[in-house]
Amino acid sequence: MGLFGGARPKPVAHRTQVGIVGAGPSGLLLSHLLARSGIESVVVENRSREYCEQRQRAGLLEQATVSLLRECGLGSRMDAEGLEHGGIYLQYAGERHHIDFRDLVGATVTIYAQTEIVKDLIAARLADNAWIEFSVSDTEVSDIDSDRPVLRYRDSAGVLHEVVCDVIAGCDGFHGITAVAAPPERVWERRYPYSWLGILADVTPSTDELIYAHHPEGFALHSVRTPQVSRLYLQVDADDDIANWPDDRIWAALQRRFALDGWTLQEGPIREKSITPMRSYVRAPMRRGRLFLAGDAAHIVPPTGAKGLNLAVRDVARLATALVAWLRDGDSRLADEYADASLRRVWRATHFSWWMTQMLHTTPGDDFGMALQLAQLRYTTTSRAAATSLAENYTGVVAA
Ligand code: APR
Ligand code: PHB
Repeated sequence: MGLFGGARPKPVAHRTQVGIVGAGPSGLLLSHLLARSGIESVVVENRSREYCEQRQRAGLLEQATVSLLRECGLGSRMDAEGLEHGGIYLQYAGERHHIDFRDLVGATVTIYAQTEIVKDLIAARLADNAWIEFSVSDTEVSDIDSDRPVLRYRDSAGVLHEVVCDVIAGCDGFHGITAVAAPPERVWERRYPYSWLGILADVTPSTDELIYAHHPEGFALHSVRTPQVSRLYLQVDADDDIANWPDDRIWAALQRRFALDGWTLQEGPIREKSITPMRSYVRAPMRRGRLFLAGDAAHIVPPTGAKGLNLAVRDVARLATALVAWLRDGDSRLADEYADASLRRVWRATHFSWWMTQMLHTTPGDDFGMALQLAQLRYTTTSRAAATSLAENYTGVVAA
């Protein structure tokens, strides 16, 4: 009964093939890939379109991610504006070494911000008359163990909807509701005792390739966004507050950590700054009944290896193929393999991200740990075998 004794309004009833929760890169790309094979879906997102399109995230794409986006018709702006990189610099003990991916593994990576991919995806879906609901509330999934799972939400005007689906995809990130509806059998987690302070600055990047700098005071990363905009990160304490970091303190720390004879870090106005905690998290399985999880809803990696977005893209590429085979052709084998097959790549990326993180972030007072890091960095920059291992993992050409 409603508040004044009237019957509760009946939700508006709908039917679709795939109900997708979350309009991040996972949910939007899944919906796009399914549509290309004639599978219809709805995407429900609790934030506004503007919020989704402005949110600053990572922006480094593996070669396979670039190829996939190109092949499914999302390459035009990425190809015009993305910046291809053939390597990275590792810096430690006052030395800067280039790791040449083209030479070591014949592959490259591309800088193209996740937020731009989200804009391209939303534009492509809307041009296709896709059903996307932004600014929803009360998202709920039920009946996932039946063959007619149900997705419920309240639209931005307050009207309740109930969508009967064949399959539901949980693409709602680390704080979403679908992972709760399908409780994991097992969880693996590591929290790191530091965070990343990230800035966007209106200044031409001071480097041709990304610089990963090990420094006794803490890690620093010089990344880029465009020829006019730099993205930089600093290791800070896990419980640090952005209020402790006025712009001049940020630049002073960056200057110390990147210092190198004969090289200058250019400074510019800081447009945005925020602190992100770092953790590794894997859950299994990535499926329960007719609910499939993908992207950050199923796993989190620390940003050091830039794997989060790339893993999400691998998940949904696999999931889209599996759902097309199942819902269009009646073959459920790939859907049955989805959870285990995805986890193999998740663990490869989880190991690589952990390895980069522990090699580059310093802990005050841990002299033994610091000496080990320097030994590992020297090995990685002087042994072709070790450098090749980093290059395979970083570019994503590694088998998993
Ligand atoms: N109902 C509807 N939408 C929801 C709900 C909910 N209850 N909870 C969360 N969402 C939305 C979030 O607002 C967000 O837009 O789900 C979306 C999840 O998107 P992301 O967090 O970007 O996750 P994903 O799409 O898996 O992207 C992969 O890997 O490392 C990262 O930065 C990388 O965010 C990227 C991610
Ligand atoms: C980024 O540009 O945001 C970025 C690049 C490389 C990383 C992490 C983040 O390892």
